[in-house]
Amino acid sequence: MSSSPGELFDPGAERAPYVRRMFGEIASRYDLMNTLMTGGRHHAWRRLMASLLVRPGDRALDAGCGTGDLAFACKAAGAGAVLGLDFAEPMLGHARAKAARRGSTAAAFAAGDATRLPLPDRSVDVWCSAFVVRNIPDLDGALAEAYRVLRLGGRIGVLEIPQLDGGLLRPLIRLHFARLVPLLGRLISGHGSAYRYLPVSVDHFLTPPQFSAKLREAGFELREVRVMMLGTVAMHIAERPAEVT
Ligand SMILES: C[S@@+](CC[C@H](N)C(=O)[O-])C[C@H]1O[C@@H](n2cnc3c(N)ncnc32)[C@H](O)[C@@H]1O
Repeated sequence: MSSSPGELFDPGAERAPYVRRMFGEIASRYDLMNTLMTGGRHHAWRRLMASLLVRPGDRALDAGCGTGDLAFACKAAGAGAVLGLDFAEPMLGHARAKAARRGSTAAAFAAGDATRLPLPDRSVDVWCSAFVVRNIPDLDGALAEAYRVLRLGGRIGVLEIPQLDGGLLRPLIRLHFARLVPLLGRLISGHGSAYRYLPVSVDHFLTPPQFSAKLREAGFELREVRVMMLGTVAMHIAERPAEVT
């Protein structure tokens, strides 16, 4: 591993293998950390996005599904079939265990890379992800894959921690991400570097207007942007155009 999380963003650094290994190592404490970091709000954001994206019977793909919570939210919102894909096997193990507890038809989970989806063109109605795209070095490649597998008129939804803007509460929010989260991460998950990587990855990510522009560049028509939780969570919803242009 690089000696500091910042070096993972240097040109030529191998960030994807680090991300894959790191999520594998924190899988057993991942859900608990999410609850502690967000005061339990993270489920509500996934439910909101699923309710805005999913229509009854949809085939939905949760890219970077982790322990499966967005996939389950899509199913609860009425999806007919949900596939969760992730490249960190231990995260998938937790997703499958939850699916088994909820009944075998809840969702299916498989190993896969969001930048090389093992799915045919135009085969899903919804492509969604929560807290993933910031971790993908080839973001353009991942959005191109989302576009490819979505049917014409299909919808993409992305939840992410955007680069923080300069609001009045910025010092407090920075304190939360840069000090409290790494401390909690060290105590709860025993993995200090994973939760030092988190604020660095946020600093290197895009603002909501920049991510909106990325979606448009990838060919999507933007439908809705919501910035929540004092600017620390952003939801983008967009559509693959219904007509071939
Ligand atoms: C912060 S977790 C989010 C998990 C889940 N989406 C959630 O809402 O809790 C990021 C997940 O994305 C996965 N991931 C990152 N890059 C990926 C890629 N290129 N392909 C597949 N999974 C990826 C990681 O393994 C990890 O499980």
